[in-house]
Amino acid sequence: MAEDKENLMDKIVSLCKRRGFVYPGSDIYGGLANTFDLGPLGVELANNIKRSWWKNFVQDRDDMYGLDGGILMNQKIWEASGHTKGFIDVLVECKKCHKRFRVEQTNLDKCPECRGELTTAKKFIPMFKTFVGPVEDSSSIAYLRPETAQAIFVNFKNIIDSFHPRLPFGIAQTGKAFRNEITLGNFIFRKLEFEQMEIEYFIEEKNWKEVFDEWKKEIEKWVFSLGVNKKNIRWREHEKEELAHYSKHTEDIEYNFPFGGFKELYGLAYRADYDLKNHSEKSGRDLKYTDLITNEKFFPHVIEPSFGMERTMLIILLEAYHEEEVRGVKRVVLKFNPAIAPIKVAVFPLLANKPKLIDKARNIYLGLKKQFSVIWDDRGNIGKRYYAQDEAGTPYCITVDFDTLEKDDVTVRDRDTMKQVRIKINELADYLEQKLNE
Ligand code: GAP
Repeated sequence: MAEDKENLMDKIVSLCKRRGFVYPGSDIYGGLANTFDLGPLGVELANNIKRSWWKNFVQDRDDMYGLDGGILMNQKIWEASGHTKGFIDVLVECKKCHKRFRVEQTNLDKCPECRGELTTAKKFIPMFKTFVGPVEDSSSIAYLRPETAQAIFVNFKNIIDSFHPRLPFGIAQTGKAFRNEITLGNFIFRKLEFEQMEIEYFIEEKNWKEVFDEWKKEIEKWVFSLGVNKKNIRWREHEKEELAHYSKHTEDIEYNFPFGGFKELYGLAYRADYDLKNHSEKSGRDLKYTDLITNEKFFPHVIEPSFGMERTMLIILLEAYHEEEVRGVKRVVLKFNPAIAPIKVAVFPLLANKPKLIDKARNIYLGLKKQFSVIWDDRGNIGKRYYAQDEAGTPYCITVDFDTLEKDDVTVRDRDTMKQVRIKINELADYLEQKLNE
């Protein structure tokens, strides 16, 4: 990470816009607070994060089942889950400008923005409300889900009936969640709509602590595989009064962010049998698990590792960002782990106005595109193209020059060492495959 922590976030935000990772939402209309759009490189990075997560936590294991539940669900789900009562923010409101603030943001009795008088603290539900169908009345209310988890609990019985899994097993899903967040700033750390990657891991009650500790290790392992430095990570246990309404024990894995130090990266919660029990009671459906050997019926307990995709993206960008000076030339480089890099290879013809070079480079580009995520660039000089690809975090750049036409080889430049080697065109794909998986 760059040394100058003060300006690091500003630099990341501006690089993300410049290079097409993250754009501010609704920008041409003056924006909409806490919303962002992903540009072409951001989409690739997000997909690589989700793919890595899914492979690691679902496909590589034999105790996991995938799910993709709806964003809109019956409002009764949020009553049973306790969200309409227990998922609350305690806020104060300015009587003059009507802005709302978290209590801890205002240790004064005046509005931090306009110095108006503040109300006493009131409860607000940070769920977005909408209406399903043509009539806007209380029976048509629906909420945009504030966590993906509930679709897992309401499909618990379906998965049991289709696959007959035995405890312990998990159900995983990734997808959008929505929260009417009132705290502004810190880029994609806190958004109104964000992506969660969640697991409900069903267990017997007596094993909860052991399984909880195993998940701590699994989470760490995945975080470190993304290239995150161990010194930037720590665990913090929630105080009793801080626990979410469904949790008996929660620990957050925290990251040392440049704004205000260690903050929540992901949560790991022991939800006990809170959700299955409540859904069973409120829906009238039997959501108990039957032990195949003893025939005993009971509500499994659950350990919930809950990951945020955007926070993952942010720490990957923070860890990757480097400013360097090599032989008097300054550069900014995102040293992404190649597996997560949005673009793996860039292909350049040395000159943009030589048809023979263009044809040759185009063929190489189209060939590699079948195997890797590849970008084409023929603008400006080679130095500028390297500079742009360093900022995009592209591990390898290939230049097709006049020697290529004679010898059928190209220059391959390594992002981190900046060293260049000549590689035969017919060996190029294998060379890149090996390098990208080193
Ligand atoms: N189902 C449990 C749950 O939702 P949470 O701690 O409220 O737990 C889980 O959220 C994770 O989702 C957080 O650790 C964080 O990574 C991410 N997250 C939560 N709110 C977010 C927001 N407004 N913007 C971006 N990510 C958010």
